[in-house]
Amino acid sequence: MDSLEKQTKRDQWGSRTGFILAAMGSAVGLGNIWKFPYVAGANGGGAFLFLYILFVLLIGIPVMLAEFSIGRNTQRDVVHAFQKLAPKSPWVLAGILGVVATFFILSFYSVVAGWTLNYIAQYTVGGLGQAANTNYGEYFSQFISHPLMPIFWQTMFMILTVLFVYKGIKNGIEKLNKVLMPTLAVLIVGLAIYSLNLDGAMDGLKFLFQPDWSVLKDPSVYLAALGQAFFSLSLGLGALITYGSYLSKEEKLPSASLTIASLDTVFAIIAGLLIFPAVFTFNIEPGAGPGLVFITLPDIFGNFAYGQFVAITFFFLLAAAALSSAVSLLEVTVAFVIRQLKWTREKTAIFVGVLVTLVGIPSSLSLGIWSEIKLLGNLNIMDSIDYVASNIFLPLGGLLISMFVGWGWNKRDVLSEVNFQTNSLGTLWLISLRYITPIAIFCVLLYSLGII
Ligand code: PFF
Repeated sequence: MDSLEKQTKRDQWGSRTGFILAAMGSAVGLGNIWKFPYVAGANGGGAFLFLYILFVLLIGIPVMLAEFSIGRNTQRDVVHAFQKLAPKSPWVLAGILGVVATFFILSFYSVVAGWTLNYIAQYTVGGLGQAANTNYGEYFSQFISHPLMPIFWQTMFMILTVLFVYKGIKNGIEKLNKVLMPTLAVLIVGLAIYSLNLDGAMDGLKFLFQPDWSVLKDPSVYLAALGQAFFSLSLGLGALITYGSYLSKEEKLPSASLTIASLDTVFAIIAGLLIFPAVFTFNIEPGAGPGLVFITLPDIFGNFAYGQFVAITFFFLLAAAALSSAVSLLEVTVAFVIRQLKWTREKTAIFVGVLVTLVGIPSSLSLGIWSEIKLLGNLNIMDSIDYVASNIFLPLGGLLISMFVGWGWNKRDVLSEVNFQTNSLGTLWLISLRYITPIAIFCVLLYSLGII
């Protein structure tokens, strides 16, 4: 134990369930309920879902297990974890990439999460949902292009995020997720059942489950599916290395990874079951983009007897799911800064939180008064940051993590860290980390950079 660890004893999860729920809290978020439906919608539905599940099984679960192993073994933040396992080697770049990428992802993630807070407020006191025939599409575009309101709500959301990180692992993050995750599960299943009774349910189900294989000729579908799998499972950036670092040695990592990845995928599919029947019932374009959840769902709520109440509950829980993911994003940088600069958790959480909020403002403005500014090709600021962080940094981080555990770390240590019951499972895992994952990610990355 070095002197810093002696001075500030690192917090740990209070229980196995607490850890699983926190990791699920990180995984289940806007990525499942907001992003998955519109990315699936824009990439052909069923065939995209097939690819997505394939990537989760072949690549997602092995990389998740790799992240937990690095974290638990080292009990360090993402940068210092690599420094500890491979001193003075370039592997530390994977850690630095993680800190930079989580920082930028949180900057735009908090903008979208702020929208959910606005919907709660507008449904509660702002009169939204009370007038019949409200044009929700118009309402949404007016709101997100407003120069001040979205920034106000983004700031509110960041204040909440900082609060839970400020309180620490056991008293902040773990307690938050223990309440929120089960509640969110009940509500989303209830809403999906309602949605499946709408007129457009069959068309919605066909869209999601009947693959049109011809879309697989388009290589960008592979990139989208891989990027979405990494994003949704919170992989590639060290969020799960960080969470794994608060684990005790008794935890069984393989079964935890399987549980978390499966439940995250189930959440995404249920979100699809909730959205697509409504999309087809209300004649909305499935590829309508980021506004899908904010326009489609209010249409469903308009049909409920207690629609306004359900809407408030839904957006509350969406905000909550976003919060539990945002907390894990912020924790990556906070854990790094605490160790690097030897600051207190409280000071670090506030400092990093303020920085992220400021960096997020241009993303928010890029949907309104700064919409003319294009960074990458034709993409505005927010989409450019999302593209680089989700489609390039995430897979690249995943590539480095899998290569490190597969090739860079002593094989015996790796296998004893994950305590696989049988050798054959351990071998399969290493095959994925050594060959399948790097080759798949490499091909997809080359494509995304326009090289193949
Ligand atoms: N998995 C989260 C979601 O689906 O919304 C987003 C996320 C959290 C991505 C943490 C990456 C991360 F490190």
